[in-house]
Amino acid sequence: MNQGWLRRALAAKRDGDALDDGTWHRIIAGYAAGEIDDAPVAALAMACAIRGMAPDEISALTDAMVRSGDVLRFGGGRTVVDKHSSGGVGDTVSLIVVPLVAACGVPVAKLSGRALGHTGGTLDKLEAIPGVRTDLGNDAFVAQVESIGCAIAAQSERLVPADKKLYKLRDRTGTVPSTGLIAASIVSKKIAGGAGAIVFDVKAGSGAFMRTLADATALARTLVRLAAGFGRRSSALVSDMEEPLGAAVGSGIEAVEARDFLRGDDRDPRLAEAAFAVAHEMLRVGGVDEREIEPRALDALQSGAAYERFAQLVEAQGGTRAALDAIAPHPHRATAVAASDGVVTAIDAAAIGELARDLTAADGPFAGLRIVARVGTPVRAGDVLAECAGPSASPQAVARAFTVGTHAPPPRKLIETVVRDADLATLVN
Ligand code: URA
Ligand code: CA
Repeated sequence: MNQGWLRRALAAKRDGDALDDGTWHRIIAGYAAGEIDDAPVAALAMACAIRGMAPDEISALTDAMVRSGDVLRFGGGRTVVDKHSSGGVGDTVSLIVVPLVAACGVPVAKLSGRALGHTGGTLDKLEAIPGVRTDLGNDAFVAQVESIGCAIAAQSERLVPADKKLYKLRDRTGTVPSTGLIAASIVSKKIAGGAGAIVFDVKAGSGAFMRTLADATALARTLVRLAAGFGRRSSALVSDMEEPLGAAVGSGIEAVEARDFLRGDDRDPRLAEAAFAVAHEMLRVGGVDEREIEPRALDALQSGAAYERFAQLVEAQGGTRAALDAIAPHPHRATAVAASDGVVTAIDAAAIGELARDLTAADGPFAGLRIVARVGTPVRAGDVLAECAGPSASPQAVARAFTVGTHAPPPRKLIETVVRDADLATLVN
């Protein structure tokens, strides 16, 4: 096939020109259909990573990817909200906010992913509860959101197939870190999943994809602007991932943490702050009046309605209340302790995430770690830094992920900024 048009488009992108809508659609449709092979698309992705992408190009790519597969639609006339986290360690927020927001009257259709690298995956956490399934299929996913107001499922093969193909190619060609390509990848999946409104939680720091605050903030703005172009209300939080978010790090033990949080048994303060911030934005983009958000969320937690909704979700997806009640961390315990007196100055989130993944692989989903001493905590030699659950744990390796120094580092904000669609007009870039 004569692909002269494609060669000319690549040359233009290489030289820093923007491609028009029609060209983006033609490339993505041709690639999804197998008429365009990997080589030109890899070159295009590299040109985008180096040259950047204009806002109209990001929109055109997103639209073309959405059109490569099925698009879900929800009935009932209410805005269905989805939430996306760019991936972190100890990020149990989804399991908490999905039932919480649903219990406040805003339906949530959550499409989630699996563990990737050192970061945890919501699907793995939920499936650790015996019987629970996440491969619901499109029709059952929609039906569950319409009946109980929430569902957490894996994205079916038929949603945005072009993104699956492009993401694999990017992974092989060093072109994952491109703000425009990342934004198009994320937003296309949310739009295909039927979200009427979206909350993005962009993580920044050593445990995240985006290492710097500046990169994370740029991605947050790009996501919100892109969603607005598709008529979707959205907010993007930029939140700290220099240390693990919640106390529990693993898969099943994060489900235990979410259950205990919702039941009111145990609420880690950092996890609570993050969950409230995300739930607040989900309720806002879901159309709840600003003044009503906090009282509704507190009532849903205190009345047990949020926990009840979580139990309903577990039951609807194949589990039982008895199984949810029975989950517990692996009984084999050991402690990682401080070797010297001082203050915890850093916790290597990526290392903690890797250790927890190795542990769950060896000892099952309820093995993992619990962070006891947060950054800024004064410790004496022998004090517990973290608890390890599972016989394969190496407390020494876990202790090495903690840095104990002499001076407490300056405190960091957990939520650095929130970019809201309403603020877009005032943003210069
Ligand atoms: N997450 C996605 O879904 N896509 C990307 O490109 C990067 C992170
Ligand atoms: Ca996650």
